[in-house]
Parts: sequence; structure tokens; C-alpha cells
Amino acid sequence: MVLTTETAMARETAEAPEAVARLLVQNRPIIEEIVRTLKYRNPPAIVTSARGTSDHAAAFFKYLIEIRLGIPCCSMGASVVSVYGSKLALKNAVLLTISQSGQSPDIVALQDAARQSGALTIALVNAEDSPVAKSAELCVPLRAGPEMSVAATKSFIASCAAGAWIAAGWIGDAAMQRAVAVLPQTLREAANLDWPEAVALAQDADSLYVLGRGPSLPIAQETALKLKETCAIHAEAHSAAEIMHGPLELISAGFPVIAFSPEDDSRTSSSETLQKLRTIGADVQAVEKGGLPFAASGYPLLDPISMIQTAYRFVEATARARGRDPDRPRLLKKVTETV
Ligand code: AGP
Repeated sequence: MVLTTETAMARETAEAPEAVARLLVQNRPIIEEIVRTLKYRNPPAIVTSARGTSDHAAAFFKYLIEIRLGIPCCSMGASVVSVYGSKLALKNAVLLTISQSGQSPDIVALQDAARQSGALTIALVNAEDSPVAKSAELCVPLRAGPEMSVAATKSFIASCAAGAWIAAGWIGDAAMQRAVAVLPQTLREAANLDWPEAVALAQDADSLYVLGRGPSLPIAQETALKLKETCAIHAEAHSAAEIMHGPLELISAGFPVIAFSPEDDSRTSSSETLQKLRTIGADVQAVEKGGLPFAASGYPLLDPISMIQTAYRFVEATARARGRDPDRPRLLKKVTETV
């Protein structure tokens, strides 16, 4: 099948810079309130709750907070309340829920139970009239607008931007705050980049690895999810460290690997890993200085946000090159409700 019209995935990916610009203009009071509250409460831990793509945005936030504040930020099993009926012990903790639809029953139940157990509930939600948005104590509307493609794009980028904004304020890092403020321009630049070498690598692949490290690991996970969802490629994401603990064994000559390697403190060790993979014959395409181009955000820990803007273009182009319509996966729906 050759698609002759623009896909919703391409259109919505292109809308991400303006979505983030809207988020930054319209949400300042709620972000400032969240930052003030986090500083005042000084929680010993942050617990996150999310599914699918939204869980990758939560993992991106996790790395920013753990790296810069040393506060553990961990995902809670979404089923512990809705399936297992557990009573939570989250007194003094903060539960951060991220959801596009704000309506999956497991995510709704976890937030309600967390609040009852004494946690402060914060939510980043695109659907403002959803149960998660309505019952969170502090809710940031993502303002990404309606998303028609089953593949979430601009709402994910908006979730990452909102998380980065909260993190930058809580950390109190002026350089990080400046990078957040100029994210719309950075994303516009990223929306004009393409990775034809990566499309050529992925378009005939049955199976491939996507690697990242620290905050770029969730971007690798998000890219792998989208390659499954829109291209039906068995794409697995690993950290550039974790791959050494087992997944390495599957690598043989010509095995395709896409890697994200921003200029943060992980760069040296990630480069060593990629070199090793190339030595054993892997076909590696890396998003890095001197490799596949990316739009630098001015703050390397935030570069994964602009990397995913370009990665979505790569995934969409790969789906089309494989004769697939990325907006219409065979078995998936836009809103998935799980317990
Ligand atoms: C994203 O491309 C997927 N379709 C899926 O992971 C989706 O993001 C997820 O089901 C959304 O859940 P949410 O509405 O709770 O964010």
C-alpha cells in the first residue's frame, strides 16, 4: 500500500512544537504551585503511575529527578489496586500520574487509593475532563489538543516538556529552565531533521534493538514501542549498560541497532558500547554528535525531548516504507482501558 496523503501521525508530530509553546504559555501558575509544593513537602520519594507511552514520559521525569536531586522516583505497579485490591502506604509520598486519556481504570484506581493513603496526587493529563484530571489534587493540562492517530506523539512530547519544567523549577537550575523555555524553537528545528539512514536500516528489519542511557532510555523505549505499534517490527529497547547483561547474545553480523547518545555524562560509556557492538558486526545508527543529527536543547539532559521529535518522523517514514498506515495498527485502539 502506498499512502499518498499526509498521515495523522506526521501531522500531529509536526504540531508538537506549538503544543509545547501553548503548554508553556498557559500553565505557568499551576507549574509554579507544583514546584512550591514539592519544595515545601520535600518528599522522600516520588511514585509514578502511567501506561504505555505515558509511562515513558514518567521514566524521563524519573531520570531528571534521580540524577539531579537524588530522590528515588519509581513506577508503581498499575494493577496493585485495581487487580490485587492492595491498600497503599504512601503517606508523605507524591504520586505523579501521566495519562493522555486520563481514564484507564487501573490508573484512576491507583490515583484514588494513593490520595486516600495520604499521598499528594499530581497529574499530567491531556483530556482535561477525564477522571484522572478531575480527581488529582494538582493537575497540569497538557494542552496538546486532540490526537487522532493511535500512535501518540505530540501528547508524549508535551508530557516530557511538562515533566522537565517541573523538574527544572524544583531543582532550581537556571540553565535547565532556559532550555525548557526555548523548547518550542528546539522542537521546530528537530521537526525539520530526517534520518534516512535509520529508515534504510529499519525498513526491512524483523527485529532490532533501540538503545539509550539515563534520560535517553525512555526515548529508546518510546521509539521501540512506536516501531512495534506502527511498523510491526519486533523492536526491543535496552540501556547501553543493560544490553551487556544478556541481550548482547542476540547480536550477530548485520543486526540493526538504533542508539540515542546525547552529550550528557553517559556519552563516553555509551560510545564504548556502540564501538563494541560495531566490532562484533552490528549495524549501528546512532543519534549523536557526528551521527544522525539532533537539535541540541542547550541542556544535554533535555536533548532526548528533541530527539523523539525527529524519531517520530523516522518511525512514520519507516511505516510508510513498509507499506503500512501508521495511524491504523491492526489490533490497537486510541484509548486503551486496562485494569
Ligand atoms: C501510544 O502510541 C500507544 N497508543 C499507547 O501506549 C498509549 O499511549 C497509551 O495506551 C495511553 O494511555 P493513557 O491514555 O493512559 O496515557
